[in-house]
Amino acid sequence: MKRILIMIMALMAAAALLVAGCGGDKKEAAEKVLRVGTEPTFAPFEFQKEGSKEYDGFDMDLIRAVGKQMGYKVEIQNMGFDALIPALNAGNIDVVAAGMSITDERKQAVTFSEPYYTSGLIIMVNKDNNDIKSLKDLEGKRIACQIGTTGEGKARSVAGAKVTAFNTNTEAAMELTNHGVDAVINDSPVVGYYLAQGGNKTAKTVGEVMEAEQYGLAVKKGNDKLAADINKALAELKKNGEYDKIYKTWFGEVKK
Ligand code: ARG
Repeated sequence: MKRILIMIMALMAAAALLVAGCGGDKKEAAEKVLRVGTEPTFAPFEFQKEGSKEYDGFDMDLIRAVGKQMGYKVEIQNMGFDALIPALNAGNIDVVAAGMSITDERKQAVTFSEPYYTSGLIIMVNKDNNDIKSLKDLEGKRIACQIGTTGEGKARSVAGAKVTAFNTNTEAAMELTNHGVDAVINDSPVVGYYLAQGGNKTAKTVGEVMEAEQYGLAVKKGNDKLAADINKALAELKKNGEYDKIYKTWFGEVKK
């Protein structure tokens, strides 16, 4: 009798181990990965603190929250801004989270989520420059911008301007500090953040924010299922207060 009892107990223990083992495996297999592409010289939306490999910023917090909401593990990859859409189309990443403005031209190439942030372009010049007050004043002048951005598009629309498109915004800003260009055209919240972080010692903005642009998360064209899932997650984050919480972290007050 005693022997049978011991045997039964041993069998039960073995079965319990087996079940636990299976459960563990299942959980691992179910961990789906969302491969996110970004270009991290765009604070406060995406950036890496000096000496850190971590991705910080509004977009980074937002995409991690979206991924979590969808049940994905989020992996962020760093690439050139002009490499993001080709990487989507090549299937190397699943989503672009890079302060990417929704434009008609890009809509031909990718599918955008619902807009998640309203932005616009602005002109930055050196503090000692009193000649440039508007886009018109940039005619024939030297303008720096980031390659592949709407800022580059705007710079190239200026008659006679000599446009230099840099891989990173860091280089564009540095070129202005060095007086290698007369102006930078970039997104207004990014310029505002740069100035607030000490850029205002040498630089300032001029004129008004140019027409509004909306940021969207981008997926490969035709990946409607993923786009719909992302929109659902975004809507949920807006409803449950998570979006507002992230917004407050990076911009202070919640814009209504
Ligand atoms: N909003 C602008 C655009 O879509 C600039 C985005 C730059 N983003 C970045 N992560 N560097 O062209």
